[in-house]
Amino acid sequence: MKQPITIALSKGRILKETLPLLAQADICPTEDISKSRKLIFDTNHEHIKLLVIRATDVPTYVEYGAADMGVAGKDVLMEYGSKAMYEPLDLNIARCRLMTAGMVNSKPVNGRLKVASKFVNVTKQYYAQKGIQVDIIKLYGAMELAPIMGLADRIVDIVDTGNTLRANGMEPLEMIAPVSTRLVVGKAAMKMKHQQIQEIIDQLEQAVEAGKLAEARA
Ligand code: ATP
Ligand code: PRP
Repeated sequence: MKQPITIALSKGRILKETLPLLAQADICPTEDISKSRKLIFDTNHEHIKLLVIRATDVPTYVEYGAADMGVAGKDVLMEYGSKAMYEPLDLNIARCRLMTAGMVNSKPVNGRLKVASKFVNVTKQYYAQKGIQVDIIKLYGAMELAPIMGLADRIVDIVDTGNTLRANGMEPLEMIAPVSTRLVVGKAAMKMKHQQIQEIIDQLEQAVEAGKLAEARA
């Protein structure tokens, strides 16, 4: 008898890349997620359900055991900062970098640096470890606007192609961390449902390796 398994997926950008990996691991939702307002989806396996939630909520569901496993960006996991879950697999999707950025040709800053970000904890830790005192301004999006409007001297944000920074007269400065999407597993789930969870991890790992081979050949 199989135990129930709940997997929390990040909606948005990551979801589009997660579903093909899950399909290769033979986990398929029974209806089209993009056409539904539902938050919980059945799959081709009676005991496996998928939750589709905000990326930033995935670690919370997994840490508290409301989901057994989850899929979330390393940026989100770093910001959440919990040690109460395992991170057994890099899914190698939604790859980007977490970086500091500033206006092109910006003047040296007198006094404390003002840094705008939605990654407040990551920003705090990054500058603290460099011994630089900063004032952190929490924003929820469009970080690139903050230096233009004089709200901040720097931002900490995701950079992929660099197009968003360039389009707003900004440049990437320092890399804080490379980012990709990770599979996370709750501690209780790993203990209580180990065999079933390990099977899913192994199948997803094969799907990731197949994706890497295809990428190398392209
Ligand atoms: P929400 O709107 O739910 O607060 P969000 O707008 O950050 O979240 P997405 O834009 O879907 O959500 O991004 C989800 C994840 O995708 C990020 O946490 C990051 O790991 C990755 N990501 C974000 N931007 C990019 C990008 N430009 N290129 C590649 N990966 C990215
Ligand atoms: C993300 C991120 C950057 C941009 C970086 O935004 O917040 O603004 O991508 O990618 P680039 O270097 O390729 O331009 P996204 O497109 O997800 O928009 P949102 O965060 O405002 O939803």
